[in-house]
Amino acid sequence: MATAEQIKSLLQSHYKNDNDRFSSIALQMAAHEARKGNMAIAQEIKSLVEKSRTGAFKIIKLNRDVSDLVLVFHPEIRLNELILSEDVRKKLERIILEYKERDKIQKFGLHNRRKVLLSGPPGTGKTITASTIAGELKLPLYVIMMDKLMTKYMGETAAKLRDVFNMMNSNRGVYLFDEFDAIGAERARDNEVGEMRRVLNAFLQFIEQDSSDSVILGATNNIKILDSALFRRFDDIITYTFPNPQQIEELIRLKLSRFLGNYQLNKIVAAAKGLSHAEITNACNDALKETILADKKTVVQSLLIQMLKDRKVNYM
Ligand SMILES: Nc1ncnc2c1ncn2[C@@H]1O[C@H](COP(=O)(O)OP(=O)(O)O)[C@@H](O)[C@H]1O
Ligand SMILES: [Mg+2]
Repeated sequence: MATAEQIKSLLQSHYKNDNDRFSSIALQMAAHEARKGNMAIAQEIKSLVEKSRTGAFKIIKLNRDVSDLVLVFHPEIRLNELILSEDVRKKLERIILEYKERDKIQKFGLHNRRKVLLSGPPGTGKTITASTIAGELKLPLYVIMMDKLMTKYMGETAAKLRDVFNMMNSNRGVYLFDEFDAIGAERARDNEVGEMRRVLNAFLQFIEQDSSDSVILGATNNIKILDSALFRRFDDIITYTFPNPQQIEELIRLKLSRFLGNYQLNKIVAAAKGLSHAEITNACNDALKETILADKKTVVQSLLIQMLKDRKVNYM
């Protein structure tokens, strides 16, 4: 039989939605049984844990109050699949490390950074960063639909926001307030001014009070319009930019992988300059599709340049 201590820890981790700890206690129990010679039960516990890790049991209960405002994802993407500046990568690694080691930090009265604002132009990797943090931490990603909050719940936005923040305690995860400008703007259109103020003030209050184990991310394309009171509530602000020549090259290598041809880099970089990561990714995918459909083995330079130029037209 498991020890009372193990059962207690198991229950605690269950109620805190801490799957990692739950699994590690279950494995300790399996080892305990194995030591006593109960091999069959040890094996059974181990295979249950394995199964849960492959996602066979992933069931998430969404509080009914917020089920139409929050989308749930289980991303598996990792940090090395993103092309980032050294500075941004270091900051993301720090968030991930501090989260994994939060017990160690908290013993000294410190807190891991887990309230983070992501800022930068569209298509530079803010949303995918949220997926990556969730993927690295093996947490679900909850995306809060800000526009729906403002339109559907006009008049009760603050109450809805409270439901979302309550959920952070019961469902540990990464919470992304995407397109944050929707509520964070200092000035709004006239008919929305009052409501925007209310929801912004509510947000400021909730994020300050929050002491959950969840990661809270806000993403914005336009940091300039955000209310300055917001910045103080975040532990960190991460700034995304368009890729530099070296990052353009890395991105194209990553996306074309085994279809990569021999290119004159300066020409490729010139064609891609001024495009976001997302646009370059799209151009690579366009070139890949054409190459695959023509039964060719590599993406030729002229095709890639053409696809990059086609993407650029959108910006002219
Ligand atoms: N830094 C990046 N590294 C690799 N791929 C990227 C990066 N930024 C964007 N992408 C690609 O473009 C897509 C859209 O990016 P997204 O994260 O939605 O941009 P944003 O939220 O900043 O507008 C991503 O799903 C990914 O395929
Ligand atoms: Mg986005």
